[in-house]
Amino acid sequence: MASRNPRGPPLPHFRPLSNDILGTPVPSSSTLEGKTRGQTSSRTAFDRPPGMTGGHIEVHGLTKTYEGASRAALESVDLTVPHRRFVSLIGPSGCGKSTLLRVIAGLESFDSGEVNLFGATPRELCRRKALGLVPQTPALLPWLTVRQNVALPTRINRRARRSAESPDTLLRSVGLEDAANRYPHELSGGMLQRVAIARAFGLRPDVLLMDEPFSALDEFTREALQLQLLELWQRRATTVVFVTHSVHEAITLSDEIVVMSARPGRVHRVLPVDLPRPRDRQVVTGPHMYALESDVRVCLQSAWEAGAAPDDLIPL
Ligand SMILES: Nc1ncnc2c1ncn2[C@@H]1O[C@H](COP(=O)(O)OP(=O)(O)O)[C@@H](O)[C@H]1O
Ligand SMILES: [Mg+2]
Repeated sequence: MASRNPRGPPLPHFRPLSNDILGTPVPSSSTLEGKTRGQTSSRTAFDRPPGMTGGHIEVHGLTKTYEGASRAALESVDLTVPHRRFVSLIGPSGCGKSTLLRVIAGLESFDSGEVNLFGATPRELCRRKALGLVPQTPALLPWLTVRQNVALPTRINRRARRSAESPDTLLRSVGLEDAANRYPHELSGGMLQRVAIARAFGLRPDVLLMDEPFSALDEFTREALQLQLLELWQRRATTVVFVTHSVHEAITLSDEIVVMSARPGRVHRVLPVDLPRPRDRQVVTGPHMYALESDVRVCLQSAWEAGAAPDDLIPL
């Protein structure tokens, strides 16, 4: 079954990674998985200083059925995201990407399976304020100004107080310095999303979960924020799980792309991205990028067919 063995033979243009963004040799995740799995049970593993490798986000046999639903939203999902990796989830609408992210964030219960974040439960990680979530719909406090919303993590949590960036610097980084004194209801959808992103950056989380954070943005802002995100990821040694509908975006950002299929939601395939970093313009417009895009699209097509109801399939 695809979900039980998603790391099948790589597609022609995908090969295991050999380097991370910092230029430090990093074994492919499957190698890392084998070497460090036994070490992840330590409850203190997550307290190690940033920059130290070890530990994974691990999801095993996860099944989740919403109340009253006729089929599971997620079935037997296995996912391993090593420390400091950038992994994207991509797949047809309704395949359970948001549900999976919310389960990892500890916001959603599940029927069976295991979710382990560097030896801790999602709830424990939230308590340590080490987990940041940018949901699909930005959740800002309507009675606070933009600046106050961005400053919120520093008011409620010591970890964020260590943040080098002031709320104004964070707002500048998402191009919203002029909106600092406005209220959420005065902003467009794209602006709200940028405030939510600035706030998540300010939290300096060890694990950052992002649900289509850039989908409401214009191309230019999107590219600028992708760069910001990569910079944050590199500087803070953050582990990122990122949901997107954009094949180009997934390849530009990720070390690995998890392709999901629907009905029920499953991991269809895990594709390592072997593009060098930094992913500058030359890299992301080069011929290898196009080959990778074509591979992901082929994989998405087979994921769609795997999850399609018989009536959806049009005979050619
Ligand atoms: N709160 C909810 N209550 C009931 N069903 C839900 C809820 N959220 C999502 N679903 C269902 O679960 C499935 C997966 O949804 P979702 O995780 O939002 O998928 P995706 O993010 O990939 O589009 C869909 O069939 C959706 O209708
Ligand atoms: Mg979604």
